[in-house]
Amino acid sequence: MSDRLFIFDTTLRDGEQVPGCQLNTVEKIQVAKALEELGVDVIEAGFPVSSPGDFNSVVEISKAVTWPTICALTRAVENDIKVAAEALQYAKHKRIHTGIGTSDYHIKYKFNSTREEIIERAVAAVKYAKKYVEDVQFYAEDAGRTDNEYLARVVEAVVKAGATVINIPDTTGYCLPEEFGQKIRFLKEHVKGIDNVVIATHCHNDLGMATANTVSGILNGARQAEVTINGIGERAGNTSLEEVAMIFRSHRETKIETNINTQKIYGVSRMVSSLMNMPVQPNKAIVGRNAFAHSSGIHQDGVLKNRESYEIIDPKDVGIDENSIVLTARSGRAALKHRLNVLGVELDKEKLDKAYEDFLKLADRKKDINDDDVLMLVGKERSANARIRMEYLQVTSGVGIRPIASICLDIAGEKFEAAASGNGPVDAAINAVKQIIHRKMIVQEFLIQAITKGSDDIGKVHMTVSYEGAHYYGFSANTDIVAASVEAFIDAINKFIV
Ligand code: KIV
Ligand code: ZN
Repeated sequence: MSDRLFIFDTTLRDGEQVPGCQLNTVEKIQVAKALEELGVDVIEAGFPVSSPGDFNSVVEISKAVTWPTICALTRAVENDIKVAAEALQYAKHKRIHTGIGTSDYHIKYKFNSTREEIIERAVAAVKYAKKYVEDVQFYAEDAGRTDNEYLARVVEAVVKAGATVINIPDTTGYCLPEEFGQKIRFLKEHVKGIDNVVIATHCHNDLGMATANTVSGILNGARQAEVTINGIGERAGNTSLEEVAMIFRSHRETKIETNINTQKIYGVSRMVSSLMNMPVQPNKAIVGRNAFAHSSGIHQDGVLKNRESYEIIDPKDVGIDENSIVLTARSGRAALKHRLNVLGVELDKEKLDKAYEDFLKLADRKKDINDDDVLMLVGKERSANARIRMEYLQVTSGVGIRPIASICLDIAGEKFEAAASGNGPVDAAINAVKQIIHRKMIVQEFLIQAITKGSDDIGKVHMTVSYEGAHYYGFSANTDIVAASVEAFIDAINKFIV
């Protein structure tokens, strides 16, 4: 008999909290539908009380998705719960996720409260949520650093109040795997009524142990893993979905099974990385560019003789099609459509025509078009309606001369031109933008990355710009890195000049 592990994906809530990873509602629906196809059981769609945008996303995702449960986060506050219930009104299967900090750090410094009062507030929140939905999940924030005996009392009280799922987060990513596993076992052994509810793990990766802690929790009795695609999330991130799914698929002796269609993993990973402008580290387990690349001669020889000598996972099992066609200028619209579909992107005819037009332009500049390029092309559409757009940019630079840039910006339909010099071509171009937009903007972070390799490659630029005490994130990709840098700068400015 196998044991079912429920996969609770929080890419759209914990993952989306990362600065620069914010998605609009249409993009969130796209990710939610891809998660549904992937086979996740629960989608945490947002924190409705936090903003009208989050509220709206939960509403729209509830309408768009059919079989997974849609979950909305709240604090242990009546208004949060009421708003979450409203946002979930169209969900076919709905869950409210409410909770409160239970470690002494949270009780004393965050709430200036007492252990007894926290139990009362937790119970009241669960009872209040039960007025709106049957399925109520309770989180004991910072459970990783909460004393086990007290945690058991909190859990017993909320189970009695009607909670159906108990989430035990290692909020700060502090626990050791054995310690976290024992925490789950302790609850299994000491809480009355615990066998009638599902225990969930929610581990952060501050010490690089999120997945190890999750696995340890599951081997000790938890049956829901809270995860994100590519492990994105606050600070060092959350446990990654792909790692948990492949660990239990590879270790069949555990008899633990998920509903994940693992062949869809790669496509969803690329989609999330591209929409959130969050690169996947090359050596990331399962989905990193090097995860299946054997570079040493000894390894290559071994793999050629028998793949299993050095590979424990067949790349096809996670959807990496090694024979996938590289697109070139001679590829037709159907090939582009097929590649987009593999990557989980469906476009209507008009959008596909536009993407194909951009694809041909890019293929003129770059010989081989890979998956990242294709996703970048469809992502470009997002900036098409921005208030400020670059009309043209001309830069003169070289050795022994001071770089000069002239630029024309279209701001809400009106054209503005300026020229400036700088200590390099990017500096000159950014100074020219500042001549047009006179605000106190400071480039705080500036990162240029090549997508793959080769001097004809696309450069991705991530930029953080500070303005009036807040930070705004900008992104662009272009074969011309000076143009990409200016576009990223403008993308950031578009976030505060509306
Ligand atoms: O890390 C955490 O504790 C959380 C809770 C809100 C579930 O994200
Ligand atoms: Zn979290």
